[in-house]
Amino acid sequence: MSVKQINHPLVRHKIGLMREADVSTKKFRELTAELARLLAYEACQDFELEAVTIDGWAGPVEVERIKGKKVTVVPILRAGLGMLDGVLDMIPSAKVSVVGIARNEETLMPAPYVEKFVGNLAERMALIIDPMLATGGSMVATVDMLKRAGCRQIRALVLVAAPEGIRLMEEKHPDVTIFTASIDSHLNEHGYIIPGLGDAGDKIFGTK
Ligand code: URA
Repeated sequence: MSVKQINHPLVRHKIGLMREADVSTKKFRELTAELARLLAYEACQDFELEAVTIDGWAGPVEVERIKGKKVTVVPILRAGLGMLDGVLDMIPSAKVSVVGIARNEETLMPAPYVEKFVGNLAERMALIIDPMLATGGSMVATVDMLKRAGCRQIRALVLVAAPEGIRLMEEKHPDVTIFTASIDSHLNEHGYIIPGLGDAGDKIFGTK
């Protein structure tokens, strides 16, 4: 697996703004969407192009198109929804698959409660979106579900990643590349990323 921390100045600037303690819901949501666009841009860097001839304003012209790439975006509920519109801005033809994962309070293991995948997963690249890669449990479970459904090309887009989550993904799914705006220091005793963003779902939905 590889982890790509995006070091573009716009990304560094925006993730810094998100760390402000008193950031408003509106601002946090906007920044989530903006960073999702930039992460999607990076995650598509190696998509193959093909030449096609179209009718241009001055006659036939050869242009480039992305070659046969079918994408499904996979938000992990609920915080992943905050990144969805941003990714769809960049890849408007993508289909959306949804995963919901709770935590079993007895075993502390991820417990999927909803899985609604689009068809033809074997032909699609899945872009999983979740703002926070903390322990990595939900991300690993989502990749497990996608692979069981036949998906073979999977990437993950997260705003902030903890080393603990990266290690778990490296162990369980070394074939999945993670694109992140930041690799932070560690998880605290409550499973929050430090310095992190706090509870990203609460901040996106205004439920804190
Ligand atoms: N989920 C969050 O929203 N924030 C964290 O820091 C960890 C998990």
